[in-house]
Amino acid sequence: MEVVIAQTPAAVGIIAAEIVTQQLTDRPDAVLGLATGSSPLPLYRELIARHEAGLVSFANVTAFLLDEYVGLPADHPEAYRRFIERELTDHIDLPPQALFGPDGSSDSPNDLQDAGERYEAQIAAAGGIDLQILGLGGDGHIGFNEPTSSLASRTRIKTLTDMTRVDNARFFDDDIDAVPRHVLTQGIGTILDARHLVLIATGESKEDPVARTVEGPITSMVPASSLQLHPHVTVIVDKVAAGSLSNASYYRETYLNRPGWQHH
Ligand code: F6R
Repeated sequence: MEVVIAQTPAAVGIIAAEIVTQQLTDRPDAVLGLATGSSPLPLYRELIARHEAGLVSFANVTAFLLDEYVGLPADHPEAYRRFIERELTDHIDLPPQALFGPDGSSDSPNDLQDAGERYEAQIAAAGGIDLQILGLGGDGHIGFNEPTSSLASRTRIKTLTDMTRVDNARFFDDDIDAVPRHVLTQGIGTILDARHLVLIATGESKEDPVARTVEGPITSMVPASSLQLHPHVTVIVDKVAAGSLSNASYYRETYLNRPGWQHH
């Protein structure tokens, strides 16, 4: 696991954008996994700027969302497909038909189970995810795999914790009752199948989960700690979120002394 500590969230976004740009230079038809929420926004702004400057194209990319709320109408502004269109894909040249997300539009358990299985099949048909962007929940979730999620789980329905619903109420005019209780999310096993995982976390509320993810034991109580099992993970944090990392000076030294040939 490579841990990169940047000064600011904007600097985190630039480092992550460099990784995405490198991926698309190496493989213009790469398959990207996209997180929603606040953490990747500096990355998405930087990617839009690079696209507008002609430095990167998404014309041949396929993209998969990590998760989707169950029961929000497709045109609800906080539905994750709408979110990613607004924050990223409406502003780049990714073809709309190349953007996939789990279908949370039904409230029937059978339909939702089918939607999870269909999503797994779509990811497999695209050849798997090359580069997966992840955020980190205050309770240690990745995707919406809340604590006690199976480390082998696949795309399925999950119930959000109260903590996550409180955290996400800011997107719903601070009305916790408006935050859906259920989601369809890539499983931890699905996420771990991606070839490169880039986890982004910034700000004080991420200080504790970042330390537990990177330096704590692997446990389903901190779903992101499962990343320790993956051979290619880059964790990019700002200095505030890095505040409780006991090996921070080692991570800084490692990054400063990276051999020229070493990519993230
Ligand atoms: C979103 C997702 C979640 C968020 C996490 C952090 O697609 O899968 O895991 O990444 O809840 O959210 P923010 O970045 O808003 O703090």
